Amino acid sequence: QTHLLGIEPLSPPEITTLLDLADEYVAMNRGPEKHGTALAGLTQVNMFFETSTRTQSSFEIAGLRLGADVMNMQMQASSIKKGETLIDTAMTINAMHPDLLVVRHPHSGAVNLLAEKVTCAVLNAGDGRHEHPTQALLDALTIRRAKGRLHRLTVAICGDIAHSRVARSNIWLLGKMESRIRLVGPPTLIPAGAADWGVEVHHDMAAGLADADVVMMLRLQRERMDGGFIPSEREYYHRYGLDREKLVHAKDDAIVMHPGPMNRGVEIDGTLADDINRSVIREQVEMGVAVRMAAMDLLARTRRERAQAG
Ligand code: CP
Repeated sequence: QTHLLGIEPLSPPEITTLLDLADEYVAMNRGPEKHGTALAGLTQVNMFFETSTRTQSSFEIAGLRLGADVMNMQMQASSIKKGETLIDTAMTINAMHPDLLVVRHPHSGAVNLLAEKVTCAVLNAGDGRHEHPTQALLDALTIRRAKGRLHRLTVAICGDIAHSRVARSNIWLLGKMESRIRLVGPPTLIPAGAADWGVEVHHDMAAGLADADVVMMLRLQRERMDGGFIPSEREYYHRYGLDREKLVHAKDDAIVMHPGPMNRGVEIDGTLADDINRSVIREQVEMGVAVRMAAMDLLARTRRERAQAG
């Protein structure tokens, strides 16, 4: 691959190769010497047109640990504010010869469009409700390390599926790895055609969580609800918020995941989220750095090979 725009175009061996390399970076990140040279001499530019804590900081740390020169563009202070378009902005940065461009954008498909225009490798850090590939990869690494495999697991993805790029990327990835996927949430927050995605659809948490190996909670994305149905937080928590009572339906050793940011007391009980015997939410954050190191390392290798081949 020359870009990482989504999980959809990746093959299962490509996913496994990336996760295997990420595992090596987890070991490196836990050791005293955190610096590699895989990106030495390369320039990484991070362009986040939407807010981010985890993705932006972990891409920055990943690049720095591998020796890249990393620049975080302050999009709120850029000429986007004067009306410059996304493509003109990208072409301007491209003229400065970056090697890796990490982009988050509120519009689905914007990152793919940008990748067609620039000469560097583009990594999608989340575009609208389309894809968030590095999130699905870090989720997969977290699951693989906890469960020892990715295939033949039952994974319940719960909550606001309709607005979630995390859900879409996870559905692609877990489907490619032959896991059983259940989408659980109110009918208003699950797209009408979801049953055609090769998943089970449930509107009841007890049925959706029954014997699940993994329970992945999603945030209610009010900012994408466009004035449409917005559930009351109290009612939503009562029916779909994950607490210990609902988790009883999953397997005894089921892990609890959340991509963050969390709304405690809305989609998940705060004490359950903090329970290190069930929750792997902190591990997800840790895996995010390693996965982003692996993704940028592999893209840089591909670019070097192509340059050498002429
Ligand atoms: N999971 C995730 O994308 O978090 P941020 O929005 O903080 O990057």
